[in-house]
Amino acid sequence: MTSAAQANGSTEKSEQPDAVPQVYPPSPEFTATANAGPELQAEADADRLEFWAEQAKRLHWHAPFTDVLDWSDAPVAKWFVNGRLNVAFNCVDRHVLEGNGDRVAIHFEGEPGDTRDLTYHDLLAEVSKAANTFSDLGLVPGDRVAIYMPMIPEAIIAMLACARLGLTHSVVFAGFSASALRSRIDDAEAKLVVTVDGQWRRGQAAPLKPSVDEAVDGAESVRNVLVVKRTGIDVDITEGRDLWWHETVDKASDTHEPKPFDSEHPLFILYTSGTTGKPKGIIHTSGGYLTQASYTHHNVFDHKAGQDVYWCTADIGWVTGHTYIVYGPLSNGVTQVVYEGTPNSPDEHRHFQIIEKYGVSIYYTAPTLVRTFMKWGRDIPDAHDLSSIRLLGSVGEPINPEAWKWFREVIGGNKAPIVDTWWQTETGAIMISPLPGITATKPGSAMAPLPGISAKIVDDDATELGNGGSGYLVLDKPWPAMLRGIWGDMDRYRDTYWSRYPEQGWYFAGDGAKYDEDGALWVLGRVDDVMNVSGHRISTSEVESALVGHHGVAEAAVVGAADETTGQGIVAFVILREGVENTGDALIAELKAEVAREISPIAKPRQITVVPELPKTRSGKIMRRLLKDIAEGRDLGDTSTLVDPKVFDAIRGK
Ligand code: WTA
Repeated sequence: MTSAAQANGSTEKSEQPDAVPQVYPPSPEFTATANAGPELQAEADADRLEFWAEQAKRLHWHAPFTDVLDWSDAPVAKWFVNGRLNVAFNCVDRHVLEGNGDRVAIHFEGEPGDTRDLTYHDLLAEVSKAANTFSDLGLVPGDRVAIYMPMIPEAIIAMLACARLGLTHSVVFAGFSASALRSRIDDAEAKLVVTVDGQWRRGQAAPLKPSVDEAVDGAESVRNVLVVKRTGIDVDITEGRDLWWHETVDKASDTHEPKPFDSEHPLFILYTSGTTGKPKGIIHTSGGYLTQASYTHHNVFDHKAGQDVYWCTADIGWVTGHTYIVYGPLSNGVTQVVYEGTPNSPDEHRHFQIIEKYGVSIYYTAPTLVRTFMKWGRDIPDAHDLSSIRLLGSVGEPINPEAWKWFREVIGGNKAPIVDTWWQTETGAIMISPLPGITATKPGSAMAPLPGISAKIVDDDATELGNGGSGYLVLDKPWPAMLRGIWGDMDRYRDTYWSRYPEQGWYFAGDGAKYDEDGALWVLGRVDDVMNVSGHRISTSEVESALVGHHGVAEAAVVGAADETTGQGIVAFVILREGVENTGDALIAELKAEVAREISPIAKPRQITVVPELPKTRSGKIMRRLLKDIAEGRDLGDTSTLVDPKVFDAIRGK
């Protein structure tokens, strides 16, 4: 199938764009000690539910489950029915009780260079203190807590304290605006908001508390705001509502008895962009989620507790941070790096210095960062000893073969296997990925569903495609970490994910995918109106509604256009209201600021063009496909369904 030269990762063939993809089998040394062997697939094939029951034994159950799966109320699953567990106990206490209290759980690296190591002992004490404080504030199981924090240990501690008490956390990415935070607080009716005075960003202390003040002003559900002092910058404190972490949590008792909760107790809500302007609160529960988080972290990353140093570069504001910084790794007794800042602060060497300093052996990141490293040049990683790395992971968007090969050669020393992991906020954990000790990988392909997971590529008529076919990615069997609904809107849950193939009862992922001639699975990207910018999901309509929120804009159309570094870039076309003057750059800057204010700086369009008209079908639907063609500089396809095909000359300024 492949020559030895190819297996060693020779880059010769990469110069020929049309060459057959090289195949990279794992080295015999890697295979010899790999956590996952071929028996995993065999066991899953023999009895899928029994297989998952077996995986659930990775956890400590206070009361055993009576059934593996109850799918009678589909599409709302119950996994590990009647089982009782405490998620935080599984992530923290258990390791201390097993004699690993002195193992470092978190090597924290602050952006300004401050560091802090927390052992499992330390983590247990901190989580207990936070849990005691949250209880003292009157929070009871089922209450929601919003967490709006940068990447500091207290963010993880706050999440685990919620899990310990059966509170449902809603982490909101600290890059989101006050208005985005407010809508998430209101939707979940959060009673507590945990935040910081400010965060370190590129050497500057940037205030965060003022956004919280703006967000909670008039928010009826919020009783308290708990503030960690991270930067020391001045903040306003509202008496009776705001509390300092160091005056409450730090002074609380460091012992706390965890209670077990039902396997289906809600663990968290995480908002993600859908195809409408309103973000969806994805609900995840406890037993099934933690089982799959733990199983995938162990097998896909080949993690070995007490030996590996693991680093997932995601932010806890996204699902990758939830599952592969907090729940998966900590359930497996990980030693991990948590880094607060940006990869180029104070300079582009930062990530590689951290890898070298802590001896990082497993490094999980996003393709957009790999492409950024490529742009900076290989001299930078080459200046460091990265030999500790033995496995690399990629997530968030398709990784282009060129970036994949560079990643393996330059960061992975031409030996570390790469796991290209496909999953979603909704799936909760990795679904499609190579297993590093078994799979001969192809650059750019996520390869195959994991043992225990079932996925298909189908066409519009639900016919499964064979090798060489491309169509829609569906998940045809329920899985433990699957979402259990959309907070407050179960109709939307059914409609969004389950109405595309109602007879078959398949979950529609919203991604296009293909099988290559060998049957390897390639995820091609979103087929709906969701953009993927640097691995962040942003909906076109969210940005459109932010733009039309500006008084000068009558109508807006937004598309994601291919971008060399970020995967996609946001391109907007706007029509101004009658009588509004087009002030050129000043107006464009104002519109970009409006989007940053409404959503987040990450949603700012790369380009905004003022146009006299938008291309529409006779039924009034904006033809985004054609706008995308323009944004990507392509020839236009079929324009016959347009009301006025000449509209394009106007848009292009001809
Ligand atoms: C995309 C992130 C190709 C995909 C964990 C999916 C990927 C969306 C991959 C989910 C991958 C994620 N290859 N595409 N390995 N991983 N995606 O919810 O379009 O932020 O539907 O979850 O990212 O993004 P989300």
